[in-house]
Amino acid sequence: MEKLVITGGTPLKGEISIIGAKNSAIAIIPATLLCNGICTLHNVPNIIDVKLSCEILEQLGSKITWIDTNSLLIDNRNINKTHAPLDLTSKFRASYYLIGAMLSRCKEIEVGLPGGCNLGARPIDQHIKGFEALGAVANLSQGKINVKADKLVGTNIYMDIVSVGATINVLLSSIFAEGTTTIDNAAKEPHIVDVANFLNSLGADIRGAGTDLIKINGVKALKENVTYSIVPDQIETGTFMLAAIASKGDLTIKNCIPEHMDSLTSKIIEIGGNVEAYGDVIHVWSSNRPQKTVIKTLPYPGFPTDLQPQMGVVLSIADGTSIINESIWESRFQYTAELNKMGARITAQGKSAIFEGVSHLTGAPVYATDLRAGAALVIAGIIANGTTEIYNLKHIDRGYENIETKFSKLGAQIKRIVE
Ligand code: EPU
Repeated sequence: MEKLVITGGTPLKGEISIIGAKNSAIAIIPATLLCNGICTLHNVPNIIDVKLSCEILEQLGSKITWIDTNSLLIDNRNINKTHAPLDLTSKFRASYYLIGAMLSRCKEIEVGLPGGCNLGARPIDQHIKGFEALGAVANLSQGKINVKADKLVGTNIYMDIVSVGATINVLLSSIFAEGTTTIDNAAKEPHIVDVANFLNSLGADIRGAGTDLIKINGVKALKENVTYSIVPDQIETGTFMLAAIASKGDLTIKNCIPEHMDSLTSKIIEIGGNVEAYGDVIHVWSSNRPQKTVIKTLPYPGFPTDLQPQMGVVLSIADGTSIINESIWESRFQYTAELNKMGARITAQGKSAIFEGVSHLTGAPVYATDLRAGAALVIAGIIANGTTEIYNLKHIDRGYENIETKFSKLGAQIKRIVE
């Protein structure tokens, strides 16, 4: 068993470079299936979820090579299966993107129902609504989903809920549909724009990605070659920004997109931190105890749910009582019980939590309940008095590349230990 051991108390200082976005990479890797040729992807995060995505594509016939630590060459000229292995696809959430991609490529796909972090109910009804509107038939049984179509025909699709996954999946499945597809009430996250940019660079005709109305004019085929670089990770950027504020540190964060961080930047300034942005660099620092605030997570450009636990650590040591309302996931406050073991005073009930700020956290053994909870606990360990041990690292490794190496370079005393 592996654990992270952190001796807290050092303000983070220095420069860090952000890698490509996990949630973009795990959509773009299946999206390469629309290309009957070779895709070269740069700025790919070297994380477990990306490796799983590659393994699944390989099972369908892709040939995939890491050409360096963060670049992949994906050769999809020999896709020869439409049934993806259930054990692999049910391990993580983004396996649902195979449905949209393979519907476009082969008009059929069978995958295990998607797994991923336990954040409460994670239905895929909006994905299915989109596939069916385009003319596909979906069958769910015994933990798997089979989706088939004789042909796909463009139509107008209104999403009842703003969903990142459903927006990308319907986008993937509509690229070769006859005529025009519109997705209304679409999600606007940076990785939606990234997937659309990737597909457009292959010759797709997608307009309006990044707004709530996306229009896809069906094309007959895509190019057989593309080189593309994944957008910097908004959530990794935010994780380091919040680590700087929590530790009263001073970080220069490079290779990021400051505009993607606007909601977080505003909140950081509101609670007394400092942020300056220039080009693709964010300078973030603080020397004071954070002030209390109220936060509600929302789809982009609102405050991201994927930064809610990291912000929770900051508010756990704020001056005063803060409130977070989580509007996306039912069960994203599991980390608060772990923070309470470290001396925080947080009361979570349903989709709200009250943070009575304490003067400091104290190191303790804690358990990463999901990916962003794990990142939050790393920040908590870095600011706590004494030693924190974090268990269940498989969640953290799903989404953060070399988290301990990156934080060590900034002065954190953090080690991975194999027991
Ligand atoms: N929803 C439905 N029906 C659907 C789809 C979604 O009711 O068909 C609901 C969900 O239950 C949730 C809300 O809509 O309440 C939003 O879900 P969304 O579909 O946007 O989430 P997702 O695509 O499953 C992605 C990220 C999550 C991130 C959310 C929100 C991936 C693989 N996952 O999930 O990332 O929290 O968008 O931004 O891209 C993470 O990285 O830690 C993570 C959990």
